[in-house]
Amino acid sequence: MANTILVGAQWGDEGKGKIIDVLTEDADIVVRYAGGNNAGHTVIVGGQKFVLHLIPSGILRPGKICVIGNGVVLDPIGLVSEMAGLAKLGVKVTPDNFLISETAHVVFPYHRELDGARELAKGKGKIGTTKRGIGPCYGDKAARVGLRVSDLISPERFAAKLKARVQDANAHLKGLGAKPVSYKKILADYSAAADVLRTYVANTVVYLHEATRAKRGVLFEGAQGTFLDIDHGTYPYVTSSNTTAGGACTGSGVPPHKMDKVVGVMKAYTTRVGEGPLPTENAQVSDLLHGMGREFGATTGRARRCGWFDAVATRHATMVNGIDELAVTNLDGLDTLAAIKVCTGYRVGAVKFDHLPNDIEVLALCEAVYEERPGWQVDTSKARKWKDLPPKARDYLKFIADQTSAKLAIASVGPGREQTIFV
Ligand code: GDP
Ligand code: IMO
Ligand code: MG
Repeated sequence: MANTILVGAQWGDEGKGKIIDVLTEDADIVVRYAGGNNAGHTVIVGGQKFVLHLIPSGILRPGKICVIGNGVVLDPIGLVSEMAGLAKLGVKVTPDNFLISETAHVVFPYHRELDGARELAKGKGKIGTTKRGIGPCYGDKAARVGLRVSDLISPERFAAKLKARVQDANAHLKGLGAKPVSYKKILADYSAAADVLRTYVANTVVYLHEATRAKRGVLFEGAQGTFLDIDHGTYPYVTSSNTTAGGACTGSGVPPHKMDKVVGVMKAYTTRVGEGPLPTENAQVSDLLHGMGREFGATTGRARRCGWFDAVATRHATMVNGIDELAVTNLDGLDTLAAIKVCTGYRVGAVKFDHLPNDIEVLALCEAVYEERPGWQVDTSKARKWKDLPPKARDYLKFIADQTSAKLAIASVGPGREQTIFV
């Protein structure tokens, strides 16, 4: 397989987990390069549902190697529990098929407490984070005071560094009126997790260089989505990492010239969980999807906000990520509609935009300009080939791919592996 970066082209939850699982068949190695257990990637195999938070979605394919790259922020307690959950379901996670970067940063309980306390302090202006401590952990990384996996697995060094960090964090928590955390408890819990994880820890940068030199195919699993990127998203309503394609290089140590292809995953409509602008948000689409029991978050269970497909956003995502190929998921979610709207531009009064304005206050004022497409009103979930799809569904897919300025490669008509059409 060509070395492939897979990114979310919208606001997260595009169905990346499902598409990674499908593409892993042809890959040797799958690498997570950004984010932490704020991610929730759903894969359904043989009717069994798996929700992956930190472990790459390639883990469900025997014989493939999964790697947590240096760009990830890792909650060791969450990871050990995720590994145990997979073991219960019969999925093998061993040092032979799973590696953890020694330079990934570690998420601590004080990061989660600070995340919660800062959200509370923001009141109405909150971001709507997953409260997994992601922002404060990346904050410590950027401030050069964070602890990395190599610290976690070195007992003496860990005890000393943790002590200093807990003192500092507790002072911040006090300032926010939040409860302090216990150094003793964290030390005990994290030392136990370190004992489980130690044998998985490796220099993943060197490992990936040797693998690419040996022409092994690497799939880079993006987390979150383009508009949650710390630089390119709808700041400040974003996560704290580079979720876009460039993050695959910095978050894994594999250089740009080794990357062959970028695949953008997007839903046939739009969703977002958390606060911030969503120009095509629409009650009809929300009611339809929630009524079908769909679009509830895989990590926090929150109802996702839903809207029509936003081609201004996905076009922007093509530009920022260099998307070559598109995987469109959840086409079946639109099966019952007689007419489907697609946003092809934004407008503020008489001023038109065909790209996403960077200024969040301008974006918040943007009104979506729609083109209407006819619905197909046929169940697509059993289609397995392009020609099985109703002509109007094929036209819709061609239209949104055209508007996005990338080549349609995959259409997904259900959560299962088999519900995948290669175009
Ligand atoms: P991710 O974070 O990008 O991996 O996406 P999530 O797993 O959070 O959310 C995507 C949801 O859509 C999950 O419940 C998937 O099982 C589901 N899904 C993915 N593709 C399809 C599809 O084509 N049709 C249907 N009905 N569900 C899908
Ligand atoms: P996957 O990988 C959807 C959103 C949160 C919030 C903002 C910041 O499953 O697509 P954070 O906890 O990261 O500080 O929250 O980002 N968010 C996601 N939304 N899918 C995700 O991951 C997300 N990860 C974070 O809801 O708005
Ligand atoms: Mg998700």
